[in-house]
Amino acid sequence: MGIELADKVVLVTGASIGIGREIALRFAAAGSRLALTYFEHTTEAVVVAERCRGLGAPDVIMASLQLADDDSIRMLFEAVIDHFGAVDIIVNNAGVVVWKPFLEQDFGELETQLAVNLTGVMKLTWVFLPMVNDAVITIGSTATLHQSRTPPTYCATKWGLRGFVKALALEHPGKRIVSVHPTVTATRMNDMQGMPPERVAEVVMRVACGDIEVEPGGDVDVREHANA
Ligand SMILES: NC(=O)c1ccc[n+]([C@@H]2O[C@H](COP(=O)([O-])OP(=O)(O)OC[C@H]3O[C@@H](n4cnc5c(N)ncnc54)[C@H](OP(=O)(O)O)[C@@H]3O)[C@@H](O)[C@H]2O)c1
Repeated sequence: MGIELADKVVLVTGASIGIGREIALRFAAAGSRLALTYFEHTTEAVVVAERCRGLGAPDVIMASLQLADDDSIRMLFEAVIDHFGAVDIIVNNAGVVVWKPFLEQDFGELETQLAVNLTGVMKLTWVFLPMVNDAVITIGSTATLHQSRTPPTYCATKWGLRGFVKALALEHPGKRIVSVHPTVTATRMNDMQGMPPERVAEVVMRVACGDIEVEPGGDVDVREHANA
C-alpha cells in the first residue's frame, strides 16, 4: 500500500447497501474516518455505520443524501465540512437504474436517472472538490467500455460521467480523479446477480491506496483486477 488510508477522511455516497456498503466497510477496516450517505435505506444505514465503528473507523457520520436535490447536496457538504474540516477521498458511488427499454421509460424516469447518476454527481463534485485533498473515485460501469444491453438512459448517464471524469482530471492535475467500472454485480440494482460486491470494493480500495495506478481521468475495469 503506497498511500496510507488510516485517519483519512473518506466520503462514500450510497453506502447503505450494495457496492457502497462494501466500500465503506473496507475503508473502516483501514482505519479511515468516514462520511457515509444513504437515501431510502435508513435502517440499513444505521447498521453500516455501527459495523464501520466496530471494524475500527475512528469517526463515522451517516447522512441522508438525495442526489437529485440541490439543497440535499449542500446540506451534506455543510455537515461533512463542519464535522471533518476537509475530505481526502470522495467515492461517487450512489446510482440508480430503471430496467425498462428506452421507449417504455417516461420523461420522469429519464430525468431521475440523469439527475442522480450524472448531474447530481457533478454537483456534489463541484461542491466538494475545493475541499478534497487527494482523490475523487467515481463508480462508472463497464457499459461505457464496450457496447452493452444496458438500458440506454442509464448507459448515457455513465458515458457522461466517464467524460466528466476525464475532462475534470485535466483541469485538476493535483488530484487523483479516476473512474472505476464494475461489471454486473450482485446487488439490488442487478437483482442480486453477478460478481460479489466485495470484489468491486477490493478494486476500489486498491485504487485508493495506490496499489492500482491510474493515469489522470483513467478507467479501471473491475474485471481486469478483481481477484488479481
Ligand atoms: N450492480 C451492478 O451490476 C452495477 C454495475 C455497474 C455499475 N454499477 C454502479 O455501482 C454503483 C452502486 O450500485 P449498486 O449496485 O451498489 O446499487 P444499489 O445496491 O441499488 O445501491 C445504490 C445506492 O445508491 C443510493 N441511492 C439511490 N438513489 C439515490 C439518490 N437519489 N440519491 C442518493 N443516493 C441514492 C442507495 O441508497 P438507499 O439504498 O439508501 O436508497 C444505495 O445506497 C452505482 O453507481 C451503479 O450504477 C452497478
